[in-house]
Amino acid sequence: MSRSHVLLTRRLPAKALARLEETCDLEFLDGGALTSAELAARVPGKHGLVTMFIDPVDAAVLAAATELKVVATVAVGYNNIDVAAARQRGIVVTNTPDVLTEATADLTMAILLGMTRRIVEGDRLVRKGGWKGFSFDFMLGSDLRGKQIGIVGLGRIGRAVAARAKAFGMRIAYTRGRPAPGDDAEAMPLDRLLATSDVVSLHCPLTADTKHMIDQPALARMKRSAYLLNASRGPIVDEAALAWALENRLIAGAGLDVYEDEPKVHPGLLNLDNVVLVPHLGSATTETRTAMADLAAQNVVAVLSGQPPLTPVG
Ligand code: 8YV
Repeated sequence: MSRSHVLLTRRLPAKALARLEETCDLEFLDGGALTSAELAARVPGKHGLVTMFIDPVDAAVLAAATELKVVATVAVGYNNIDVAAARQRGIVVTNTPDVLTEATADLTMAILLGMTRRIVEGDRLVRKGGWKGFSFDFMLGSDLRGKQIGIVGLGRIGRAVAARAKAFGMRIAYTRGRPAPGDDAEAMPLDRLLATSDVVSLHCPLTADTKHMIDQPALARMKRSAYLLNASRGPIVDEAALAWALENRLIAGAGLDVYEDEPKVHPGLLNLDNVVLVPHLGSATTETRTAMADLAAQNVVAVLSGQPPLTPVG
């Protein structure tokens, strides 16, 4: 049987590569951020394409990919892929759900504590010699117990965040998505969630509908004591509006793992003390990234051997 050709935009952990190499010849594009034209130039003749969430798999790339059978993104979010265009061409698209849920929820809690207990701000102060010793009202943060977390997108990751927040004594409100059976979470429209939550945490996919969902009016609706947390996709938040809201103390603070134009960060955010800025680390643990890569490899092998994919999107 002839071997399939698979293009990978990044090197993956050895286990995933070994799985692919059993039946496929591999080519790598390890060059950092790729344009659609660069990707389109490399896909002709490839049967499989393994991508990251930053690779633009648009209609032009798919049109150039005359032999392509599967695009496997090593991510749960797939807003970088034109899934409709792929479907039209009979190309299967897969992602890596579930295996990254716990790591992403853990990071969300780390950011939540980091911003409400001012850990990053405190670290910066200590390093620059600004700590003058104990004082009773020095660097006070906010408790989580008894507060409301408003989860926008109660899907797999949102529910895992809800379980953790509950263990910290928080009440759960949500919009979009649904709770697991038996979960104690109050559904409410976005406007009410924004107006009543002490922490608003975003876990929904980026679509035309959610782009800039958190804009100036949305931020103005939040409590002045509230925090915004985004570990989903950057463009869901209007970053300029967020910088304005933080600067003017319309909200107490924010924590971001994702940005509108990564790795750029809106300059208005960089000098503010009340925002925690994390470089897109949601799924970044060795165990989780290994599992994501392996799941992507299994999807490619399944489709190229005529089997159904494990985790197709759409
Ligand atoms: C990853 C993510 O960090 O899965 C996603 O959608 O944004 C993150 O889990 C990223 O995709 C890199 O693999």
